[in-house]
Amino acid sequence: MALFEKINLPTVKNIIVVASGKGGVGKSTVSSNLAVALARKGLKTALVDADIYGPSIPRMFGVENAAPTVEKIDDKDVMFPIEKYGVKIMSIGFFIAQSQGLIWRGPMASGAIQQLFENTVWGEIDYMVIDFPPGTGDIQLTTVQKLSITGAIIVTTPQEIALNDARKAANMFSNKGINVPILGVVENMSWFTPKAHPDEKYHIFGKGGGSMLAHELKTKLLATIPLVAEVGEAAEKGLNVFEQEDKMLGIAFESVVNYIL
Ligand SMILES: Nc1ncnc2c1ncn2[C@@H]1O[C@H](COP(=O)(O)OP(=O)(O)OP(=O)(O)O)[C@@H](O)[C@H]1O
Ligand SMILES: [Mg+2]
Repeated sequence: MALFEKINLPTVKNIIVVASGKGGVGKSTVSSNLAVALARKGLKTALVDADIYGPSIPRMFGVENAAPTVEKIDDKDVMFPIEKYGVKIMSIGFFIAQSQGLIWRGPMASGAIQQLFENTVWGEIDYMVIDFPPGTGDIQLTTVQKLSITGAIIVTTPQEIALNDARKAANMFSNKGINVPILGVVENMSWFTPKAHPDEKYHIFGKGGGSMLAHELKTKLLATIPLVAEVGEAAEKGLNVFEQEDKMLGIAFESVVNYIL
């Protein structure tokens, strides 16, 4: 007998989770731009903000004031995702005030996240990307146990401390009974190149951590993403990396897509 009932999403072909051990390493940035990159390939793409404690996806897409349509179908309230840049987005952030800090107890949190998946009318989806909160808490466990996940992407910065946490997150996926394949590692904030010195690379947070982790997990390093002020600024304005003058970041995310397709 199964220990937990699976959530069935019959119209969703592939589900990819984006996880990290440490907070603030760039999961939401990677999830958002990966989803946009998939949509730009002509794939039907969804993005679920599983960070119910600090949802940041609505702001990153500039749709923080959008309100999903809710309808009653067969006596059940269902939600329609918000669409931007060809990506169907669902987040608890659409239902709570921006400033409101969220306090969920374990079972409540698991229930809320389950509803986001189950009660949304997704339509046909080739790739659903899930942006995880940091660490290995209830939300992450519920999600990996209840959904049929195609694979996980681990985001890390090159620092040793971030790597230790990333290993813990990766271990969650290889646990007995979970067995989610790790598709690869994305190393974010890998280096900084000052505008005035375009030929120089400063490895502010260390060097080689992502490839070390990929090697250890017997997986691939999918991309190294530099620290670029415009990435953060764009996210504040609801823009993605494909709208930037500098094409380098768009190319990095296209290469992630090429690895996972
Ligand atoms: N490559 C980058 N260059 C510059 N800024 C970046 C880069 N990646 C992420 N940021 C910025 O760093 C901050 C943290 O990124 P993000 O929200 O994607 O991380 P996270 O891992 O999802 O964080 P949390 O654990 O809080 O969910 C954001 O302000 C984001 O815009
Ligand atoms: Mg985040």
